[in-house]
Formats: sequence, C-alpha cells, structure tokens
Amino acid sequence: MVKVNLDGCASFVDAKDRAAYVDKALAAFDVLVAGNGAGNDFLGWKTLPSDTPESLIAACETVRDDWKGRGVDLVVVIGIGGSYLGARCAIEALSHAFVRPEGQPQIVFAGNNLSEEYLAELMDLAGRRNVACVVISKSGTTTEPAVAFRIVKQFLEERYGAAEAAARIVAITDAARGALKTLATQEGYRTFVVPDDVGGRFSVLTPVGLLPIVLAGFDVREMLRGAADEQKALSVRDEANPAVQYAAMRNLLYAKLGKKVEVLVSFNPKFQYLGEWWKQLFGESEGKDGKGIFPASVNFTTDLHSMGQFIQEGDRVLFETVVGIAQANREVVIGTDAQNLDQLNYLAGQRVEHCNAMAALGTKLAHIDGGVPQIGVDIERISAYNLGALFYFFEFACGISAYVLGVNPFNQPGVEAYKKNMFALLRKPGYEAQTEELLKRL
Ligand code: PA5
Repeated sequence: MVKVNLDGCASFVDAKDRAAYVDKALAAFDVLVAGNGAGNDFLGWKTLPSDTPESLIAACETVRDDWKGRGVDLVVVIGIGGSYLGARCAIEALSHAFVRPEGQPQIVFAGNNLSEEYLAELMDLAGRRNVACVVISKSGTTTEPAVAFRIVKQFLEERYGAAEAAARIVAITDAARGALKTLATQEGYRTFVVPDDVGGRFSVLTPVGLLPIVLAGFDVREMLRGAADEQKALSVRDEANPAVQYAAMRNLLYAKLGKKVEVLVSFNPKFQYLGEWWKQLFGESEGKDGKGIFPASVNFTTDLHSMGQFIQEGDRVLFETVVGIAQANREVVIGTDAQNLDQLNYLAGQRVEHCNAMAALGTKLAHIDGGVPQIGVDIERISAYNLGALFYFFEFACGISAYVLGVNPFNQPGVEAYKKNMFALLRKPGYEAQTEELLKRL
C-alpha cells in the first residue's frame, strides 16, 4: 500500500492552514467520488482495477503466445503521451537493467517524437530482428504515432507480406471512431478498445498499458490487484486518506507558500519513467486556466550532482515529493579491501542500499534546511503489485488535487495549439488560411 509521510513539511506549514486544506481536499474527494465535477464523463479509470475482466488479460496473453509462436523478438509499441508513458514506466521499473530474459521480446517505443534519426535507427534494429507492432492511439488521429506506424507497417508488409504483417500488428484505439480504427478494420488487425470514459493519461490499466506490459513478460494480474487494494484503501473518506493528504499538502504549499514547482524524486533509476508518467498525469491535468504546479522530476543520487545545487540553493519555488522504496529487491554488500586505498573500509559489510538510504536521509535534512519542503510517498519495494498501487494512488490524488485547484482534470485543450500550427506549416488540407497567416509571421 502507498503511504504518505508529511513530516518533511511540518516546519513549513501551520496547523490551521493544514486543516483548511485537508477540508478542501475532502470536499474535492466528495466531488470525485460522486462524479459530479468538471470532466465527469472521463471517470472510467476509477473502477478499472476492480472491474477489469479476466477475459481482457487472457486476450493480451493470446497475443503474447501467438507472437512467441512466430518467434517475435522485437515489439515496437507506437504511441505518444498517455498512449505510451504508463507502459514504458511499468516495463522500465520491472525489467532487469541490463539483461533481457531468454525468450522475452525486447519492447521498444516509437511514435512519441518526430525525430527522423530515431526512426531510422529503430528501423536499423527492426531490420535485424523478428518484429511485431502494437499501435496505440485513442483518437486514432495523432500525427506522431500515425507517421511512425506508416513506416513500421510498410516495413512489416515488405518483409512478411500483407497477411503475415496483419497478424503481427495489434491496434489499440477507440471502439468506433478515428483513422486507426478504420485502418484496423480494413486490414483485419486484432484490436483492443480504449474505453470512451478513460483519458490517455489515466489509461495505464486499460489495454493501452496492459498489453505492452504482458508482452514484456510481467504480471498484470498482480498490478491490477495492487491497484484494486489501493482503490479500496482510498475510497475511505477520512483526513488520513493518503490521497487526501497528498492533494491537500501540495495545494497548500502552492497557494500559501508560493511553491510553484513540484519535483518528483526517486533514488532508484528504475523509476525514471515513473517521473515521466507522473509529469504527464499532473502537468496535463492541472496546468490550465493560468494555474497549476509545474511538475518536474529527478533521479538521485545521479541528479544530486547536477540539479542538486539548484534544489539546495536556487530560487525557493520548489518542493519535493520523494517516492521512497523501503526494500531493495537485490543485495550487494561492500567488501573489505586489505589496502583500503579508496578509504572505504568504514563501509565494509554494509549493503549498497544502506548507503542509498543514508543519502536519501541526508538529502532530506539538507533540502529542508535549504527551504524545500518534502512529501514522502512510500512503497515497500518495486513490484507489479506496488506499481499498480502507485498508479492508482497518483491518479486518484490527481483528481482530488485538480478539483482543489479549481480546474477540470480530464481535458487538455492546450495541447491543440502546437498541432494546429504544425498542420498549417505542413500544409495539411483544410489549414490553408492558417498557413498563410503563419507564413506572414515567420
Ligand atoms: O492524456 C492524454 O489524453 C494525451 O496525452 C494523449 O494520451 C496523447 O495526446 C495521445 O493521444 P492519442 O492516444 O489520441 O493518440
């Protein structure tokens, strides 16, 4: 279960403000639970952990087994934003950092940028491997994944022929609408549906996240079990509810102390993409109407040697949320050295994780001394179960927090601005007037 520790904020906030913000968060909790707030047609994510049918997981496993039978050793997962970050986060967190288990396909991601070099190098890899592809787009019209998919699709058709290529492609999209849905129906691809009432950044526990995670060899039943237990724990209307506590404190730090930047911190590189997923979740949900905490992320101790200086002594607009992991899954003990030239014998017999824990504690004290409040979000260890719990925790807390802030957590109108300009500059049919306007400005 996810625990929230607020003792790193105690010296920054007074009890009266804290109680007031807990009240605001409880009121927002009521709105989220009742489903009568802004964007309430996008609340399907709330019950995904308890409602996901076994048949959906079995369908993911059928794809996995079918592709195993075809000898697939590289799966290209195409998607952007909420259509890839959850899967990438889970796969990076649960994978061995260096070694891929025998018989598991490598999962690579595409369609999350428009870099020509990235795609060219991906195709270099594909040319040497036995390839399949999962293309994910809820709208079915997003340019970045559509461009990547056209290239990967043509590669697969040239390499394997149209029928075999179709067997190596799965599309995850809307049930009825969008270019990807039309294409998938026409080409006879297997498809999975992104539910209408689940937005991209809340979709990790739909096939958007579940299929790539199953293909990577991880246990989504455990992930859903962790999320379901968290769903149950967070359903209690109480000021001790961890999601209420977190949402209340981050809004208090923002509104009362001018802490406009929240830095998600991890002391384990496996959580680098948790930071990326979390930034999208909070950034797109809260950054609107001229409001919102800017979500940033760092990995310590790595970034203590880069961003650590700013966090300690730069503009005091920051607070930290540290994802604490109580137990490492592996053990490495520091040995004794007869000569002790590196002067590390004082650590002999200690686990490396003990050094990491002392670094975390030392950082906490130093940053609090430097004027950076710290929220702790703690789990026991990295596992599929705890990742499921973390996903649900942050999603639920994000819903509460955005309602405290007074914004609709479930839309993203600002994302359209760059797209319109890009289409106009690419001379997409229908954008002629904007093209002329933009060219005059350039
Ligand atoms: O959270 C969101 O809704 C967005 O980030 C989308 O996931 C992202 O824009 C991709 O959209 P789509 O899945 O329609 O291609």
